Amino acid sequence: MHAVEEWIARTFSTRWVSEFQVAMAHQPCGCVIATHEKKVIGFACFDATARGFIGPMGVDPEQRLGGVGKALLITALEQMRAMGYGYAIIGGTGPQDFYARTVGATVIDGSDPGIYADILPEPR
Ligand SMILES: CC(C)(COP(=O)(O)OP(=O)(O)OC[C@H]1O[C@@H](n2cnc3c(N)ncnc32)[C@H](O)[C@@H]1OP(=O)(O)O)[C@@H](O)C(=O)NCCC(=O)NCCS
Repeated sequence: MHAVEEWIARTFSTRWVSEFQVAMAHQPCGCVIATHEKKVIGFACFDATARGFIGPMGVDPEQRLGGVGKALLITALEQMRAMGYGYAIIGGTGPQDFYARTVGATVIDGSDPGIYADILPEPR
């Protein structure tokens, strides 16, 4: 966890570290990671921000567009299906085209900001 937390903070944000910690605080844990040559290059969380939600997820900038994000997303969704979920909600999507292209995700009308309203700013 420490190694992944340090990488998420350095590559993305401390806010995503908080969500990763929640995903890792239950069993079975709600995070899949990708590694290459003993280094973390990607992660995808689920059941972190809210139950049934997937995200945050991210891939190292130098490793993007190589299929790692799609593999992480589908692996996380398969784990959710094994846990009994029939559908998953992609929270705070960011690049919606990535999710539409990889898993056929569609926008839920009126869902922005949804549960992400009134978030505290990142600490300095
Ligand atoms: C979004 C992200 C996870 C994609 O990871 P990736 O490893 O580059 O994605 P993949 O290589 O698996 O791409 C799979 C497909 O989606 C497409 N794609 C990738 N990023 C895309 C984007 N930003 N917008 C639209 N399509 C995208 C690829 O071209 C590929 O299409 P293809 O199968 O037709 O060739 C990565 O760009 C990232 O970490 N972004 C910053 C963090 C972020 O926004 N996370 C999501 C919000 S929580």
